[in-house]
Amino acid sequence: MTHRLIVDTARPKGTIHRYIYGHFAEHLGRCIYGGIWVGEESDIPNTQGIRNDVLEALKRIRIPVLRWPGGCFADTYHWKDGVGPRAQRKRTVNVHWGRVIEGNDFGTHEFMLLCELLACEPYICGNVGSGTVEEMQDWIEYMTFDGDSTMANWRRENGREHPWKLRFFGIGNESWGCGGHMRPEYYADVYRRYQTFVRGYGEQPIYRIACGASDHNYHWTEVLMREAGRYLDGISLHYYTIPGTWEHKGSAVEFTEDEWFVTMKKALVMDELIAKHAAIMDQYDPDRRVGLIVDEWGTWYDPEPGTNPAFLYQQNTMRDAVVAGVTLNIFNNRCDRVLMANLAQLVNVLQAPILTDGPHMVLTPTYHVFEMYKVHQDAQLLPVSIASTDVYAHGGEELPRVSVSASKDGAGQVHVTLCNIDHANSAHVTIEFRGQEIQRVVGTILTASDMSAHNTFEQPNAVQPTAFDAMSIRANHLDALLPPMSVVLLSAL
Ligand code: AHR
Repeated sequence: MTHRLIVDTARPKGTIHRYIYGHFAEHLGRCIYGGIWVGEESDIPNTQGIRNDVLEALKRIRIPVLRWPGGCFADTYHWKDGVGPRAQRKRTVNVHWGRVIEGNDFGTHEFMLLCELLACEPYICGNVGSGTVEEMQDWIEYMTFDGDSTMANWRRENGREHPWKLRFFGIGNESWGCGGHMRPEYYADVYRRYQTFVRGYGEQPIYRIACGASDHNYHWTEVLMREAGRYLDGISLHYYTIPGTWEHKGSAVEFTEDEWFVTMKKALVMDELIAKHAAIMDQYDPDRRVGLIVDEWGTWYDPEPGTNPAFLYQQNTMRDAVVAGVTLNIFNNRCDRVLMANLAQLVNVLQAPILTDGPHMVLTPTYHVFEMYKVHQDAQLLPVSIASTDVYAHGGEELPRVSVSASKDGAGQVHVTLCNIDHANSAHVTIEFRGQEIQRVVGTILTASDMSAHNTFEQPNAVQPTAFDAMSIRANHLDALLPPMSVVLLSAL
């Protein structure tokens, strides 16, 4: 059976915000310490303490926005502990993630430096759970005020003359759970109070992001939009793809065909979640002023055997690459509501694009998907209609075999990203490009012959993109054969 698609190049549907390609770095395990920050004295080549190999890799995928410092850590973080001379910074306990000592070497200045080196925008999550309104207000003043105030002068004393540009600010993280176990009615009021004092002092108004729901908690979205909708600019959503149960999530590398199928099925749930949360938002915000910010997403498996279970370190296989491709296609197609998304997490934690081990670094299959999909950043979404669907049948259940999104970039080039989620069968796809003459198509593919193929420090290039040419074009119609378990980028010239 053929999957027949029509890409309408003449009727763009809106911008695929580059922030959809955002990331998340928490003080958790080896994400910040070891993964990003090695310190100025390290033998690992670094720029003012930030490792160069990771910096260069991140520049290549053009990360547009980075969320920090958590996660659950955010609601335990007191920013004043992380500024000033490093030797004098407080030593605190990271209560959520293994009770390791947090030396606070990486604080506001180091994070802002990282963002400047990457040319990406900071997205800071403030402490509502254990922090005060005054503390939050001081932080904003410290970062963004240019005048002669105590906070701004303290920033100068600590080495930064000019304020930083700060657009995105989150008011609490998972306030229904690790951020304070609040009820939505209570959080809505707390949110209203805290946001009153989150005012930017620079030219840049602050985009206030409220803690939103997890998964199918539509009641949270309903209450928050009703009680606080007019005071917020964005509302978050967290959803993790967990093949098993919370207690037994499944192995990142050793999994069966059934687990592959269920992982795909659960990844596709993201579309339903966005549709349903967005429908509630539409009732209170019909003009779609408020953005849905999926600021934690990705696969979550049992931790790698032999590692600290609180560090959430997991390998990353071809399965993760397909989950990334499918999920980014969903975000692209729903860019009328989804303004931002942040993969959890940047280095060494959960579905990481980058893994490190001492001085060594490896790029995961997920990294390569972000590299391929970067063409969609700030491009115009193109409607794709599906004339006939091919299905991926397994164990008596069916899923659509192919996931797709398409865009037209600023130079007028059309890009189509496709995933064949089937672990065993190829997908035959035909694409009709309507409204634009297509002369030539350049293809790139990420695939593997083994479901659990992954990159290791010994074999860092086992899974990497290659040229894709299993296609032919005739009069604006393209025929392609997507191998099983593949992510493909087609760029039409
Ligand atoms: O990403 C790991 C954790 O998952 C985050 O700290 C928390 O927000 C979520 O539950």
